[in-house]
Amino acid sequence: MTKSVPIITVDGPGGAGKGAVCKQIAETLSWHLLDSGMLYRLLALSAINHHVALDNEAAIEVMASALDVQFASAAGQKGIRAFLEGDDVTAELRSEDVGMAASKVAVIASARLALLARQRAFAELPGLVADGRDMGTVVFKHAPLKIYLTASVAERAKRRYKQLLENGQSGNLARLTEAIGARDRADMGRSVSPLCPAEDALIVDSTALSIDQVCETIISEAKSRLLI
Ligand code: DC
Repeated sequence: MTKSVPIITVDGPGGAGKGAVCKQIAETLSWHLLDSGMLYRLLALSAINHHVALDNEAAIEVMASALDVQFASAAGQKGIRAFLEGDDVTAELRSEDVGMAASKVAVIASARLALLARQRAFAELPGLVADGRDMGTVVFKHAPLKIYLTASVAERAKRRYKQLLENGQSGNLARLTEAIGARDRADMGRSVSPLCPAEDALIVDSTALSIDQVCETIISEAKSRLLI
C-alpha cells in the first residue's frame, strides 16, 4: 500500500499570516509548500498581460488549463519565486491590484476546476502544507489537520501596511483597510468554494499572536494527532 501523504491545510482571509506561517511550518518539518493564492494571482496576471477581461469565463478557463508557470526556491532568498511564461513576476504578484484581480478570476468555477489537479500534485511525501481559501473545504478535503487562520481587519491592514513600508513601497492605512474588507467580502460571498472554515477546522485567531506562536500551536496540534 502506498503511504498516504500527511497534509496540513491553512485557510483564511488575506493578511492573517498564512503565508509566513505556512512557510515556517514547511521549513521546520521539511515538507512541501503550496501557496495556492499564487496560482490565482498568476492566472490574473496572465489575463491582465494578455488583455483578457477578468470576467471572460471561457478565456480564463483556457488560460487556467494552459498556464505556463514555474516555481523556484533559491537558497538564501525570501520565499518562492514565480515565473510566468519565463518571466520572474514574484514582486508584481504581491500587489493589491493583482490580489484583487485574483479574487475576481477566482469566482470562475471552471477555472478553479482547471487548477485543481495542479494543486493536488503538490501532495508528496514527506508531507504538504497547503495555504489558501479552500484547501480544507475542497482541494484537500480529507486532510488530517485543517486550520482556519484569521485576524481582525484592522490588524491585517496594519500588517500589510508595515510589509509595504519594509519593501520600500508606500501605503495608505485607510485604503488598505478598505481593500482588505472588500476582498473578504468577495472571497466569502462567492458561490463557488467560498472562504469559510471547514467543519472540522481548528480556528486560530492570530490578532494577538506572533508568527512563532501560531506555528507552535499548529505543530503541537499536528503532534497530538500523530501526524509528525
Ligand atoms: O492568498 P492570496 O492573497 O495570495 O490570494 C489571492 C486571491 O486568490 C484571493 O483573494 C482569492 C483567491 N484564492 C482562492 O480563491 N482560492 C485559494 N485557494 C487561494 C486564493
